[in-house]
Formats: sequence, C-alpha cells, structure tokens
Amino acid sequence: MKILLTGGAGFMGSNMIHYLLREYKDVEIVNFDDLTYAGNLTNLSDIQDDPRYRFVKGNVADSKAVDAVVKGVDLVINYAAETHVDRSILEPKAFIDTNIYGAYNLLEAVRKHKIPKMVQISTDEVYGAVMEGESDEESKFEPRSPYSASKAAADHLCSSYAVTYDMPVIITHSCNFYGPYQFPEKLIPLFTMNLLEGKTVPVYGDGQQIREWIFTEDHCRAIDAIAQKGRLGETYNIGTGFRVPNMDVTRKLMELTGRGEDAIEYVKDRPGHDRRYAINSNKLRTEVGWEPKISFEDGLAQTVEWYRSNHQWVDACRTGSYKDYYKQQYVDR
Ligand code: DAU
Repeated sequence: MKILLTGGAGFMGSNMIHYLLREYKDVEIVNFDDLTYAGNLTNLSDIQDDPRYRFVKGNVADSKAVDAVVKGVDLVINYAAETHVDRSILEPKAFIDTNIYGAYNLLEAVRKHKIPKMVQISTDEVYGAVMEGESDEESKFEPRSPYSASKAAADHLCSSYAVTYDMPVIITHSCNFYGPYQFPEKLIPLFTMNLLEGKTVPVYGDGQQIREWIFTEDHCRAIDAIAQKGRLGETYNIGTGFRVPNMDVTRKLMELTGRGEDAIEYVKDRPGHDRRYAINSNKLRTEVGWEPKISFEDGLAQTVEWYRSNHQWVDACRTGSYKDYYKQQYVDR
C-alpha cells in the first residue's frame, strides 16, 4: 500500500511514519512536508534510507505540487497543519493557508485522481470549550481561536466533499497528544525542558484549565485502526478520558524532574483560553475496537526521559540548526 503522509516531518507525522514502518513490511510512504519551523527531518534520520520511505519537499497550499504527489497513492493522511494556538493568535494567516487551503487542495487532488481514502487529522478544539460533559461526534462546532477555526473550516470542507462528491474521507478529532519529538513550544515539552534546565515554567492564568491527554503511540494506533476499519464519510473522536488541570501536569513534571515550588511562574492568560476540553470516544472504541494502552504516568515518564536524553535535539530546535540537516541530506548531495 502506498501512503501519502503530509506533514510527516512534524511531531505527529514523524511518529506515524516510524509506527507504519515498524508495523508493516509492504508499506510505501511518501512524506510531503514543507519543513516550516516545526518540520524537522532529523526526526526521521534513522529511517531516511529505508527503501519504503521517500521525502518530497512541498507545501500543501501549492495545488500543483499537491496534485503531483497525490496521484497514484492508495491513502492520504493529512497531518500537515499549523498547530500552535498561541502562534495563531499572533499571526493567523499561515493557519488559513495551510490548514484550510491545504485541505482543499488535497481534497481536490483526491477527487481528481480517485484516491480510495483520505484521513483528515483534526482536533477536539473544533468543539470549543466544554464546561460540562463531553463532546461527541454530533456536537456543534464552536471554535474560539484562529487555529481551531481553521481546523473547523477544513473539517467542514471534508464533510461537504464526502456528501457532495461521495468522497472517501474520514475525519478524526483528537485530544492533546504528547511524546518524543514534540516541538518545545507546547505545554509538556516546553515545561519539561525548562524544568530540566533549572528555569521556571510559564503557567497561563490560574493553571486550572483542563486538557485530555493521549500518548503519541496510542494516537498512531488509532489512526491506523481508523484508516483500516473506519467508515467513509464518518468522524471519529480520539480520546483517553484522562483529563486533568494543567497544574496537575505541571506538578507531575516537577516530580519527574526533581523540581520544587520555585519552578512555578504564573503568567498572563492566553486570550480566549478554552477552559476545558473533554471528548467522548465511544464511537471509536465500539466501532473500530481501539483502546488506549499507555497510561499518562508511563507516557509522561517516557517522554521526560526522551527529552532528558535528547537535549541536542531540543537545542537544534531552539537555534534552528536542525534546518542544516535538510541541506546536507537532500540539497547538497
Ligand atoms: O486539543 C488538541 C490540541 O492540543 C491540538 O489540536 C493543538 O494543535 C495543540 O497545540 C493542543 O492545543 P493546546 O492549546 O491545548 O496545547 P498547548 O500545549 O499549547 O497548551 C496546553 C495547555 O497548557 C493549555 O491550556 C495552555 C497551557 N499552557 C501552554 C503553554 C505553551 C500554559 O499554561 N503555558 C504555556 O507556556
């Protein structure tokens, strides 16, 4: 099976490529990625010479490039996205281009080349803040940041193509994930690195905002299961039910890194900060038969250990030197 994975040099995409190459002998993967700040090919340096893997540099907002790379594949998984809420508040345009226009280009190419299946990776943030209970797949979209609005728009496009053109699209809405290779701007990698380096951690507002967490490996298994057994035209929530306030995550990280109260720094809250996310993933569990396997305790311990042993990777992210790797491996050769 030939799979086009967009955004494969990012955190989630690169974890998925590792997962697929580990799980399947006969798979052929094309990684289409524009190597923006979050795209890091060193995430894939261990498999770059695997004959089942190929990298193509390109932007999903470029319709011609998308058309060429989509042609002839059996499955498209769209991981390409601008994902950081704070960045979307500062500069929304890239979110519109990549998340909305990118999804549109992929849908058009999938339609034209009659690709058998496309999985659109999306987020629980499209449901907005859920103060009580859980959002299920029928819940109303109430995005509240430019990021979540751009993902919601792309999801609406995907559902409309499924209905209007009878297209084989499946949408997934996941809770917050964490694990190795996550760019050190998100809560868990940022706080882990700051704590390991003896710095303080910037807790937004009162730190009582609630998030639901999934370890990256469990997310990869969910996408794989959905791609194989999910019904076309459907949406599946991916969640663990493990929901905690940010302060609990912060304290667990402080324990794992041996830091005390002096590490906490309360800072100004994020504008429009969603107070709570909670998704119901019964549909995925009953229809597709997926269950998370990794507890938050284990996943977080593994993640902290990974960042502790991969300090160079983080330093390269911070200085931007990981970009040199692309030039050495793909341009200068
Ligand atoms: O829910 C899924 C979503 O999770 C994904 O769709 C997004 O792409 C991903 O960025 C993530 O969004 P969040 O805004 O929840 O993730 P983030 O790691 O930025 O923040 C998690 C929580 O921690 C949130 O309540 C804000 C808070 N926070 C975050 C940062 C970076 C802080 O208190 N301080 C910080 O410095």
